[in-house]
Amino acid sequence: MAAGKGTRMKSSRPKVLHRLGGRALAQHVIDTAARVSARSVVVITGHGAEQVEAGLTAPDLESGHALKLQYVRQEPQLGTGHAVQQAVPVLADDGVTLVLSGDVPLTRPETLQALLDLCGGERLALLTLGMANPTGYGRIVRAADGSVAAIVEHKDASNAQRAITEIYSGIMAVPTPLLRAWLARLDNQNAQGEYYLTDVVKFAVADGQSVQAHRIRDEVQVAGVNSPLQLAELERAHQRRVAEALMEQGVRLADPARLDVRGTLSCGQDVDIDVNCVFEGAVSLGAGVRIGANCVIANARIDDGAVIHPFTHIDGEKLGVSVGAGALIGPFARLRPGAQLGREVHIGNFVEVKNSTLADGAKANHLAYLGDATVGERVNYGAGSITANYDGANKHRTVIEADVHVGSNCVLVAPVTIGAGGTVGGGSTITKSTPPGALSVARGKQVVLPNWQRPAKKKP
Ligand code: UD1
Ligand code: CA
Repeated sequence: MAAGKGTRMKSSRPKVLHRLGGRALAQHVIDTAARVSARSVVVITGHGAEQVEAGLTAPDLESGHALKLQYVRQEPQLGTGHAVQQAVPVLADDGVTLVLSGDVPLTRPETLQALLDLCGGERLALLTLGMANPTGYGRIVRAADGSVAAIVEHKDASNAQRAITEIYSGIMAVPTPLLRAWLARLDNQNAQGEYYLTDVVKFAVADGQSVQAHRIRDEVQVAGVNSPLQLAELERAHQRRVAEALMEQGVRLADPARLDVRGTLSCGQDVDIDVNCVFEGAVSLGAGVRIGANCVIANARIDDGAVIHPFTHIDGEKLGVSVGAGALIGPFARLRPGAQLGREVHIGNFVEVKNSTLADGAKANHLAYLGDATVGERVNYGAGSITANYDGANKHRTVIEADVHVGSNCVLVAPVTIGAGGTVGGGSTITKSTPPGALSVARGKQVVLPNWQRPAKKKP
């Protein structure tokens, strides 16, 4: 169910597209459904339907089984029962329907599997929860023998029923043929004038069918997002789970409360991550990698033993970034898409690297720009030097062959090649390629006027 408006988010973006851990809320729900081997996911859209439909994708499944993602529209929104009614025509009769809410992102697959097992393809199974303050939720009313008799919505409940602390989570598993039959019997004769999905319990009981409840204790798993505050709270809960999973693998986090993974982070042995780091997209860290405080790293592969010093920003976007084993990056370095750094490369403070390959042992330690460059082994690239890769219309490559020494404050005007082992004098603007082994200097010659008198100020 993803048709609701989400008024309390006070946002123009449909609620289920707000992001948690870098993924849309409803995407979490779809991905979780895939992990309990759903054959098909039917998303019921309404508010912002087109945006929602464009913003979600079928997950890539490692198991290779195909998951069909389809959409049905609910217009107008007349309640949760009415929502599920819209999906009924596309549901296969030989299966079980698991009803989930697009704004409840943190349900664990194991919990859903337990609910499906309880359903067993035969009976209605409800996910329930004990809550100290159940205000607003549907209450689980039980008969004298303890069996579930009904779900009564808060607004329809008597005072005695409001005292019940077992609530319906909004998640149920039900054999599709039974669901189809019960939904056909819904009416909206209740306090909200809505078609309640929860009324199926009443019909099951009337039909003499058993209704099972799987009661959990973990509120986070059924918590919905209605406001920015709740979104932030669930974000922290999600990040805590991610941090715990990493630490269980042996990753050392300086503070699990100050880590944000908005994608997938895979780590080798003995990885250390200092505080306030953000990882986005797919990031892999090799064995012994150390990440300093306040780094943002996206779409990158960092090989064994590399050290990323504090305040470094790495974003490979679609091209990716790779950092070789034993490399030292930062502090305050910026690696952009297509930066491919070999082993033991050093990139120091205020150095930007874009779409460039640096071979093993190359160094750019201070205040430099390398764009569209191919840099050979052991090159030393001086402070303040840049590749002028853009002529205002096109990009051109700079090739700096092995063992070149580029002095400080040089401009290498591409396309240009600096031959192997060559030296470029500081302050040079190099516009023509240089042969191997040469010293190239391209700057105004120094003029010295001995004993020169500076002009003196005139007396008024
Ligand atoms: C529902 C349950 C209630 C349960 C609670 C748990 C009903 C009648 N009540 O409450 O027992 O305790 O969830 O959170 O089902 N939606 C639609 N179309 C609609 C109405 C809702 O798609 O016409 C979607 C919403 O976007 C949301 C989900 O269904 O994702 C649940 O709706 P919401 O209004 O939050 O739940 P309640 O009806 O308050
Ligand atoms: Ca409602």
